[in-house]
Amino acid sequence: LLLHQEGGPLAGRRVLITAGGTREPLDPVRYLGNRSSGKQGLALADAARSAGAQVTLIAGSMEQQPGPELACIEVVSVGTTEQMHAAVMSRAEQADALIMSAAVADFRPADYAHTKIKKSDNGASPIITLERNPDILAETVARRNHRGTGPKVIVGFAAETGDEKSDPLELAQLKLQRKGCELLVLNRVGENLVFGLDSTEIHILASDAAQQQLQGFEPDHVIGSKREAAALVIQRLHQ
Ligand code: CTP
Ligand code: CA
Repeated sequence: LLLHQEGGPLAGRRVLITAGGTREPLDPVRYLGNRSSGKQGLALADAARSAGAQVTLIAGSMEQQPGPELACIEVVSVGTTEQMHAAVMSRAEQADALIMSAAVADFRPADYAHTKIKKSDNGASPIITLERNPDILAETVARRNHRGTGPKVIVGFAAETGDEKSDPLELAQLKLQRKGCELLVLNRVGENLVFGLDSTEIHILASDAAQQQLQGFEPDHVIGSKREAAALVIQRLHQ
C-alpha cells in the first residue's frame, strides 16, 4: 500500500505503532486496565524496523519492554488513553502508516480520587461512574480524510470473541467499515487465547480501496507466532 523504496521495502517510511494497554487511574494506587501484553506491538515494531522503516512506538502498559533489537526506534511511554491520544495526534501528521495495536480503554472513571479510596463504615460499595474516552483510530482517520494529509495507511486491530448472534469475522467486517481504516487485523480472543501468549490467530481484512491494490496477495489468515503475524501485517504496507 506504500510505495516500495530502495534500501529495504519500507526505507524512509515513518511508521507509528501503538502497543500495550492503556490504564485509567481511579485513585493514587488503583487503575482500570486490560490484559494486553504488548507482545504483538513489539513484534510489529521489530518487523517494521527490519523492513527499513523509521519506527515510533507509543507504548502503554506492557509485560515486556523493547529488547536491544529495538534500541534504534523511538519509544514514547504513555499511561492513559488521553495520553496515548495526544501522543498519536501530535505525530500522525508526519507518519506514512499508523498501526493501532494497543488495547485502548474505551472508558475512564469520571472522577479521580486524589486520596486512596477507603472502605466506608456503613458497608456500602462505591459506585464508579465512567465516561467515554476519545477514539484515537476513528479520529485519526477522520482528520486524515478531512485534511488530505497524514498516514496513507491506517491499521486497526480488533480482538473479538464473537457472540450468540455474530461470529468474529462478521463483527470485524462491521468494525472495519465503522472505523474507516484501510486494514483491520482480527484477533480471535477468549479466556485462554492470545493474551500474553506468543501464538496468535489473525485475519487481515482490507477496505474495498485497499483490497483493489492488494489483489492477488495471499494469505490473509495466519495461525502462528505473533512475529509471523506481524510480518504479514507489515508486508501489506509494502505490497
Ligand atoms: N481504538 C482507539 N481508541 C479507542 C478504542 C479503540 O483507537 N478509544 C482502536 C484500537 O487500538 C483498535 C481499534 O480501535 O485498533 C478497535 O478497537 P476495539 O476495542 O476493537 O473497537 P471499539 O470501537 O472500541 O469497539 P468495542 O465496542 O468492540 O470495544
Ligand atoms: Ca474497545
